Amino acid sequence: MNVFITKQIPQKGLDLLQEAGISYTIAAKTLPQEELIAQVQQYDALLSAGFVKADAVLLEACRHLKVLSLFSVGYDNVDIAAATRLGIPVGNTPGVLSRATADTAFLLMLAVSRKAFYNYHKILDGKWQEFEPVADLGVELDGKVLGIFGLGKIGYEMARKCRAAFDMQVIYHNRNRNEEAEKELGARYVSFEELLAQSDVLSVHANFSPQTKELFDKAAFEKMKHNAIFVNTARGGLHNETDLKAALESNTIWGAGLDVTNPEPMDPANPLLKMPNVCILPHIGSATVETRDAMAVMAAKNVIAGLKGERLPTIVNA
Ligand code: DGY
Repeated sequence: MNVFITKQIPQKGLDLLQEAGISYTIAAKTLPQEELIAQVQQYDALLSAGFVKADAVLLEACRHLKVLSLFSVGYDNVDIAAATRLGIPVGNTPGVLSRATADTAFLLMLAVSRKAFYNYHKILDGKWQEFEPVADLGVELDGKVLGIFGLGKIGYEMARKCRAAFDMQVIYHNRNRNEEAEKELGARYVSFEELLAQSDVLSVHANFSPQTKELFDKAAFEKMKHNAIFVNTARGGLHNETDLKAALESNTIWGAGLDVTNPEPMDPANPLLKMPNVCILPHIGSATVETRDAMAVMAAKNVIAGLKGERLPTIVNA
């Protein structure tokens, strides 16, 4: 039994594969789809790290796969319907990256509220001069309203941190009510329109899907408060970047913190990177030693189960 791994993953996952008697090959570089398909023909499983586009073409050509294990919680890069039709179980890594991703959302919220990246660049650019009582002021977060769009595991963690640190009031919009968040955090379910209208910080934690594609567009930003901070650590496709830039330029909203952009990587010349009330990170939500180790273990467990013909511990297409 063998598995092809598209990028180096932490050793903990590789050790598990070895203990289970599974041999592996790690791609030396990112392969174009045709080459990847050719490679994968010699393998029983594919462990995909780095958002490989597993569309119907790839899946059809690799229909022999006993498992497709994703090194991510998100699976919007996979044609799940095609995988299911072809009988390929797809596994992901839910739960283990919730804390780290919520930390990133929290970091961005706080960084935007104090224009941190912009002020850091002022030092680099030799523009740190005298103390200025009214220049580049930020805003405080204590007691403000946190709106969560998509209150799953990551959204819950973000809400918990914001309650504990800033006693923020939590409102949320989700497909289903989250009773735990309502009971433990006093979170209040609101309509999407209310979420837009009432949030001082609006943090996005939903999956990317045709239903959520560019949901945060001109019309949505226009319904938000002028002092609102928009944070997206989910997927760049949930917001329209041109509309976001226009909303920031016209002071329709106050600031934005992004760990995900559309496209990725972001063009270094993108004017959003130079705006004072904007902080952008290069999709580092899950990038901690602890979380990446846990993701590697989970992804390896999915490979092992798939190769044994067992149900994957964390399966997407049940
Ligand atoms: C995921 O797991 O989907 C994240 O975006 C990777 O950090």
